[in-house]
Amino acid sequence: AEWVSRTRAGIGEGRFPARAFNDEAVYALEQDRLFTKAWCFLAHESEIPSPGDYVTRAIANNNIIVARDEHGEVHASLNMCRHRGNVMCKSEMGNASHFRCSYHGWTYKNSGELVGVPYMKEGYEGRLKRKDWGLVAVRVDTYEGLVFGCLDPAAPSLEDYLGGFQFYLDLYLKHGLGGVEVHGPPDHWVADTDWKICAENFAGDGYHTPVAHQFGFNLGYFPSSGTTHSQGWAVSVPGRGHGIGLGHSPDFPAFGGFPDELVAGMKEAMSPAQAAVFAQTRTAVGTVFPNLSFLMQPFSLVPGQPGVRFVTMRLYHPVGPGRMEMYSWCLVPKDAPQDYKTEAYRAYTLAFGQAGTFEQDDFENWTKVTRSAASGLVRDLDFPYVMGMESEPDPDFPGPGHAVRPYVNDTNFRTLWSRWGDYLAGEA
Ligand code: FES
Ligand code: FE
Repeated sequence: AEWVSRTRAGIGEGRFPARAFNDEAVYALEQDRLFTKAWCFLAHESEIPSPGDYVTRAIANNNIIVARDEHGEVHASLNMCRHRGNVMCKSEMGNASHFRCSYHGWTYKNSGELVGVPYMKEGYEGRLKRKDWGLVAVRVDTYEGLVFGCLDPAAPSLEDYLGGFQFYLDLYLKHGLGGVEVHGPPDHWVADTDWKICAENFAGDGYHTPVAHQFGFNLGYFPSSGTTHSQGWAVSVPGRGHGIGLGHSPDFPAFGGFPDELVAGMKEAMSPAQAAVFAQTRTAVGTVFPNLSFLMQPFSLVPGQPGVRFVTMRLYHPVGPGRMEMYSWCLVPKDAPQDYKTEAYRAYTLAFGQAGTFEQDDFENWTKVTRSAASGLVRDLDFPYVMGMESEPDPDFPGPGHAVRPYVNDTNFRTLWSRWGDYLAGEA
């Protein structure tokens, strides 16, 4: 408790402790007070388009089945048989109207209802009521196809939780009147990296881009003058923790990189204020607190050629101190021509797929940061978060939230860690 209150005070003064990025006690606190209380991302609706489709995901250390029932409604249930706790569904994705336990054969509808119990008459003699022993239901809510789950029945609504950040989520999701869909299942892999390093980086770390990803500029994969990141805005939602970095370059055409036939639909799907922000946005990288991020950027399939804009969505699921499972999706506009979807997926794979060039650059650094954080001399040190401490919000910025210039700025990170501190202190 003392460490948490000292850390919170430090965040206000522009400091954050190394220990937070790799520590058993911090990990346990996060499991207990953050991931079991916050709205956590589960799946995109387009991963389970038809009745019976399901994926298995996790919140904290709870495995969860996300399934679409026969009426088209999405349910999230704990992936655990109520009889003796066996794991019900052992595959990552599929289609099933029912799940039958492989231990004693209890059978549940994909909505979680218990419908079949062997030896019901002979054994339980009316003492077991099926309706009392369905799969444990997890609260779900959706925004524009994003399915979130929350383990805390007392938590406020998803809408309240997002707190206006929907405005910026739409920049990734309203790509045409049909919205976006996932292009194939997510890449996922385990990395010796703390989830918070990724959450922070994607909340708008324009500072690392010209250095960590320098080769991308040099080789011409990243069509930019390299000044993009200093020219845009860092926007955060104080009290909610969400943040986005909007990279801007004056020479980049509005809606550039998207096929012409999509642009009219994009403009129609967005509000005028959103379209005004979008028109000035070349790259957008944002984090929904705690561990879901989005990135939109152009990437040239052939060095020096105009870039193809792609969108990736990623989830950093903590699986231990300094260790996480990364889920990475490519989102494409539903209404886009097939050729564009294929190209966007190629751009995503080359840049941010599991073996993507940018992905490698980042993890090379992130695993080292994580390792340092656990070393004896480092763990009691703080890092500076004072960049842009005096930045005033830009009164001319057309979107909501706290928007500061330049984009290279620690403001979003202070907002992110303040929210994290609220949860760890039990005050969120
Ligand atoms: Fe599932 Fe016994 S543990 S039926
Ligand atoms: Fe990066």
